[in-house]
Amino acid sequence: MVIRIAAVGDVHLDKDVVGRFRPALEELPECADVLLLAGDLTRHGTEAEARCVAEEFGGLAVPVVTVLGNHDHQCDQVPQVVKVLEDAGITVLEGNGVVLDCAGGRLGIAGVKGFGGGFAGRCASDFGEPEMKAFVRTTNESAEALGAALRSLDCDMLVALTHYSPVPDTLAGEPLEIYPFLGSYQLGQAIDSAPTALALHGHAHAGTERGTTPGGVRVRNVAHPVIKQAYSVFHVGDQLDTDQVSPIGQSGSQRSWS
Ligand SMILES: [Fe+2]
Ligand SMILES: [Fe+2]
Repeated sequence: MVIRIAAVGDVHLDKDVVGRFRPALEELPECADVLLLAGDLTRHGTEAEARCVAEEFGGLAVPVVTVLGNHDHQCDQVPQVVKVLEDAGITVLEGNGVVLDCAGGRLGIAGVKGFGGGFAGRCASDFGEPEMKAFVRTTNESAEALGAALRSLDCDMLVALTHYSPVPDTLAGEPLEIYPFLGSYQLGQAIDSAPTALALHGHAHAGTERGTTPGGVRVRNVAHPVIKQAYSVFHVGDQLDTDQVSPIGQSGSQRSWS
């Protein structure tokens, strides 16, 4: 049995972008059981932009599950943004999860925005000024919430959804100097603390698509500027080892736009 997962991040919608994804989204039932959005849905996180997201991603024939990104926090309107999305039927995750009954089995999705901090040997540490300790505390709390959510879900296949990256692999192409602002190794540890089949993230617009956690979980950067199409589709199934989970299809070049 196979579960088909469509995913995209960093769509950065505003009124000028509304409508560009919709033709491809209408085709989702043919190729996917669910659509996951990896944050940065808006440009500046306003309620008005959230309504653009609701118009574009609401009312689809497949469930839509999202996390927010840093851009969605910019205007301090997160409660309003979340309400608009949820009113449109979009499930917003932050430190929790959801289990969906798909034709191929029960799909568990755990999500957090995540945070920066960096990666092994090149990371922020819980030392010194209160501001630095607060930074690292935010990183740790986010990762702990993701791990707890992943471990709590009763499902057949488990997917982690974040905005920030859990590994440096998928940042290749970004300047090394900003890696600590693009993700953190603690997210990777959280993903490896559960039998996660696939980890999806965004945020790294200039990164690359494929990576792997230290524990062997496949990681995919689905930021729209990286995948260069309305969404990518991944198949996960209980016939497969997690190491064999791989994206298939490219959603058709006809769905591409840039
Ligand atoms: Fe983004
Ligand atoms: Fe971002």
